[in-house]
Amino acid sequence: MSKLQFDVISIFPEYLAPLSLSLVGKAQENELIDIAITDLRDFAQGAHKSVDDTPYGGGAGMVMSAEPWANAIESVAQKSTGHHELIMLTPAGKRFDQSMAYELAQKEHLIFACGRYEGIDYRITEHYQGVENFTVREISIGDYVLNGGEVAALVILEAIIRLIPGVIGNPASLEEESHSIRGEENENLVEYPSYTKPASWRGHEVPPVLLSGNHAEIARWRSAQSEARTRQLRE
Ligand code: ADE
Repeated sequence: MSKLQFDVISIFPEYLAPLSLSLVGKAQENELIDIAITDLRDFAQGAHKSVDDTPYGGGAGMVMSAEPWANAIESVAQKSTGHHELIMLTPAGKRFDQSMAYELAQKEHLIFACGRYEGIDYRITEHYQGVENFTVREISIGDYVLNGGEVAALVILEAIIRLIPGVIGNPASLEEESHSIRGEENENLVEYPSYTKPASWRGHEVPPVLLSGNHAEIARWRSAQSEARTRQLRE
């Protein structure tokens, strides 16, 4: 299997430093994935290296200009010959979820465009929708507004990378976590509660069924807990 390639384009490359830590950092060291961070400013034009301008039609704030973005995107795209998924991070995008994480973990090259200010000139989305070898997706991590796409890229990268074979030591743990558990109608359920030693802590006891050694009973209890917690969240 060829290595999954991730590129992140941002005017704040330092924001993406956490990518060298923990499981994501290890996955890079172990050459399971390759993550490159590109500074958009390197593709800015003019003496002022400007990457934004005032919005057509008026309004507050600045809009990121198309040309530096196109140059940065094309520079990272030329590193690989296959298909590129261009991910535009925006609160106006489709809501990210676990099924999207699974889908994106199957792709060969993901390019994350971290917009700032009032976003990126929309013609970047329009243009790459029409370029062969590109799929453009606008993705949001939730219904709130961040200062830029960097934190959203970190969230999405972490959710995707832990699904790549070899990244997590015990892949069975992926099957029993929130949003991987299926309910009776095949809906996503959240995880059941977990406990570890000691069995009694400050007067709180571990549910006795978990100490019973009866695996069928334990599985039934866990699935009932998942159903109940999910129903409560959705109320
Ligand atoms: N940029 C600003 N807010 C965002 C959000 N909620 N999701 C993705 N990118 C964003």
